[in-house]
Amino acid sequence: MNNTGPKTNAQQASEEPIIRISEMHKWYGEFHVLKNISLDVMPKERIVVCGPSGSGKSTMIRCINRLEEHQRGKIIVDGIELTNNLKNIEKIREEVGMVFQHFNLFPHLTILENLSLGPVWVRKVPKKEAEETAMYYLEKVHIAEQAHKYPGQLSGGQQQRVAVARSLCMKPRVMLFDEPTSALDPEMVKEVLDVMISLAQEGMTMIVVTHEMGFAKSVAHRVLFMDAGQIVEQNAPDEFFSNPQNERTQLFLSQILH
Ligand SMILES: Nc1ncnc2c1ncn2[C@@H]1O[C@H](COP(=O)(O)OP(=O)(O)O)[C@@H](O)[C@H]1O
Ligand SMILES: [Mg+2]
Repeated sequence: MNNTGPKTNAQQASEEPIIRISEMHKWYGEFHVLKNISLDVMPKERIVVCGPSGSGKSTMIRCINRLEEHQRGKIIVDGIELTNNLKNIEKIREEVGMVFQHFNLFPHLTILENLSLGPVWVRKVPKKEAEETAMYYLEKVHIAEQAHKYPGQLSGGQQQRVAVARSLCMKPRVMLFDEPTSALDPEMVKEVLDVMISLAQEGMTMIVVTHEMGFAKSVAHRVLFMDAGQIVEQNAPDEFFSNPQNERTQLFLSQILH
């Protein structure tokens, strides 16, 4: 056993949270939407966030890449604190990819153009290289043959897989998903979840807002339950589902599982 030798970078990295939210509050005007949120996410950790509509799930994850601004407390991503410093916001957005319920692809651009746009314009990657990267990720989400089509020619499930690939082209270290399957027809949910499962297997750090409890059980290390702007309860999936502690969690689970 060699546990006294120098640590590798990977070992060192795995000991520090990649996301650290502490005592964070947010208001929309007078409305106190997030109340004292504290959450540490370790590299490669996979967290599922659930809770009733309006409980603040979207707002919380949108604060992590500054799509929304918090007013109190701290958010630190990979050692960089989120403040009004635009350089830092840019750096954090490079590390944190996001997939939304609606895929927001540009309808007048092909799939390949949708994917290479960000790297070419934001990252100044040469076009040819950006397209090679795009094809690599389109293969990964099993949709390379659609590269030259327009979004409108693809099904919802295919478009959402394109949206995942588009995020991956920016080489993020963390992926945030905000109800990525809830706008899809039921028969398309699995193809998107399968792509997320393979991302998980490759070790991506993920925070996923979803009510897909099968996904939570098989993929999450931790499940958080939010209600009224607070993290009410969190646990490993087995415990979370078999033995919820808070009565609001119990009520929520009884509603969605039956
Ligand atoms: N831009 C906004 N301005 C004012 N209130 C908002 C805004 N966005 C969301 N809210 C409110 O904040 C609460 C939390 O919303 P949200 O984070 O979207 O919840 P969830 O994702 O859990 O459904 C809701 O009451 C919602 O109406
Ligand atoms: Mg939401």
